[in-house]
Amino acid sequence: MANYKMHVLICGGTGCLSSGSKAIADNIKSLLKENNMENDVQVLMTGCFGFCEKGPIVKILPDNTFYTEVKPGDAKLIVEEHLIKGRKVDSLLYKDPMTKKHISDSKHMDFYKKQMRIALRNCGFIDPDKIEEYIAREGYQALGKVLSEMTPKDVIAEMKESGLRGRGGGGFPTGLKWEFASKYNIGEQKYVVCNADEGDPGAFMDRSILEGDPHSVIEAMSICGYSIGATKGLVYIRAEYPLAIERLQNAISSAREMGLLGKDIMGSGFDFDIELKYGAGAFVCGEETALIHSMEGERGEPTTKPPFPAESGYWGKTTNVNNVETFANIPVIINKGANWFNKIGTEKSKGTKVFALAGKINNVGLIEVPMGTTLREVIFDIGGGIKNGKKFKSAQTGGPSGGCLTEKDLDVPIDFDNLVAAGSMMGSGGMIVMDEDDCMVSIAKFYLDFTVDESCGKCTPCRVGTKRLYEMLDKITKGQGTMDDLKKLKMLSGVIKDTALCGLGQTAPNPVLSTLDNFWDEYVAHVVDKRCPAGQCTALLQYVIDPGKCIGCTACARVCPVGAISGKVKTAHVIDQEKCIKCGACYDACKFGAIEKK
Ligand SMILES: Cc1cc2nc3c(=O)[nH]c(=O)nc-3n(C[C@H](O)[C@H](O)[C@H](O)COP(=O)(O)O)c2cc1C
Ligand code: SF4
Ligand code: SF4
Ligand code: FES
Repeated sequence: MANYKMHVLICGGTGCLSSGSKAIADNIKSLLKENNMENDVQVLMTGCFGFCEKGPIVKILPDNTFYTEVKPGDAKLIVEEHLIKGRKVDSLLYKDPMTKKHISDSKHMDFYKKQMRIALRNCGFIDPDKIEEYIAREGYQALGKVLSEMTPKDVIAEMKESGLRGRGGGGFPTGLKWEFASKYNIGEQKYVVCNADEGDPGAFMDRSILEGDPHSVIEAMSICGYSIGATKGLVYIRAEYPLAIERLQNAISSAREMGLLGKDIMGSGFDFDIELKYGAGAFVCGEETALIHSMEGERGEPTTKPPFPAESGYWGKTTNVNNVETFANIPVIINKGANWFNKIGTEKSKGTKVFALAGKINNVGLIEVPMGTTLREVIFDIGGGIKNGKKFKSAQTGGPSGGCLTEKDLDVPIDFDNLVAAGSMMGSGGMIVMDEDDCMVSIAKFYLDFTVDESCGKCTPCRVGTKRLYEMLDKITKGQGTMDDLKKLKMLSGVIKDTALCGLGQTAPNPVLSTLDNFWDEYVAHVVDKRCPAGQCTALLQYVIDPGKCIGCTACARVCPVGAISGKVKTAHVIDQEKCIKCGACYDACKFGAIEKK
């Protein structure tokens, strides 16, 4: 990067690309050409910056200017004002929602202040399609170090010492997993598998890493191969990730061309190559035994463990499966040392964790924080608090396998064990924030709807049990539930957890159990009072007109599609509850706040 005076980094993640970032890059490039500046300013498409809510993002170096919500038409302003005259374009700078001031340097934005980027270190900094840029940021140094200075045993010892735990959901110690794999089937074909199936609703951590920094995963898989004695790597990636697939394929080809994949890597005598296998988007195929069956061309159904993949994996051979984010941490651990890594985080959860922050939060996006950061810091400092000044109600972590945390958990330092103790789990890193308007029975029903759809149907507790849980929740949201249903929900949840064959069924009842524990009163309100306190369950809603506030403007009666509202001009109107279909049109139409949802 040394020859250029300035660099324009434009987000080329899926989110920003879909809102026009490629056109921004093209426009900036052609304007630079018109002004004979193409040798002074380098324009790069990078991976995701994380702040997808405010995309497309354009960053300018060396002054670190961070432009948000840029449109293709803004290219002219950026080139003429910033790149030619050196003046920042105020209207494109991020505006702090609290102080209303423009912030030019991303380092001073609350969204970034408490973050620490290890797995995402290169996302937003390099062009993922150029291997030279990865190499310029210490890329392939860790592989070089491992092949020239370390024995496979040294590598495993370093991984164990680092305390890294798997980021795919289970949190199993990575070094220990590599040690198991290294001990099986010495001398025979072994496999390193990267699990890039990422099926949790709302999660996009792994996709962003693969789109923004594919070489970090390739390098880590080779290091793993060296340590366990494998020469073949497979990435199981969902076919719905076309950009990640394209960038990964391109990265594999460039690594091969440079002799960083293939035969006799760096003249060390070590051979390793990687192939892609495509998933069709079934959540259960993220489970490692189902994933292996799917790669073999069989139905993507799980089998009981043991045997674990290390004992009998792909084609019955020793296989080590790790998640994308787990792999992305590995080159840094080797370069900086286990000691550096294990000083970050909590006693039993080292390093950082990437979360996909979504829901009723001001700053939606992808964040990476040291383990031990509290939920309050994530939601209020990084996430900018709850949207529209509403009250925080709950944060769902761990996706369909996890649970709902509440106000009492806001100061819990986030790590694998603390989240489990609080009744949820880390999972792969989805975090959905809910406010006072969210109904927790409906949230539990949403996740059950997902697991019912995604159950592979192999075992009865999951196939039939989750369906029965869903039906009971549905009854409750329709005002037909009984206290006996609440008892049955708890009992059946326990049975499914104890008897289902794989992690999908074993964790499917978690959203039900955690909402029952934390929001019991809300369930009782649905069942006993036939009322939805959050006003979400349509069947339990009543729209009523407050005669004290109604001025008889007739706006509501004019929009009611079923003629349920009667009343003369300038007199209070009335809703016929028998006719009302609860569409909410009158509520939106009344300018005097006279219509209430009850
Ligand atoms: C239903 C189900 C879905 C899963 N989906 C994923 C997934 O999408 N990605 C992933 O890495 N792990 C997923 N896992 C966990 C994997 O089985 C496995 O533990 C993980 O890939 C191991 O890698 P790690 O040790 O690096 O976390 C899933 C597990 C279950 C039970
Ligand atoms: S728990 Fe569900 S997903 Fe897992 S094997 Fe049984 S039916 Fe299939
Ligand atoms: S909620 Fe819809 S159907 Fe009911 S009174 Fe209002 S406009 Fe009419
Ligand atoms: S996709 Fe552009 S910031 Fe995330």
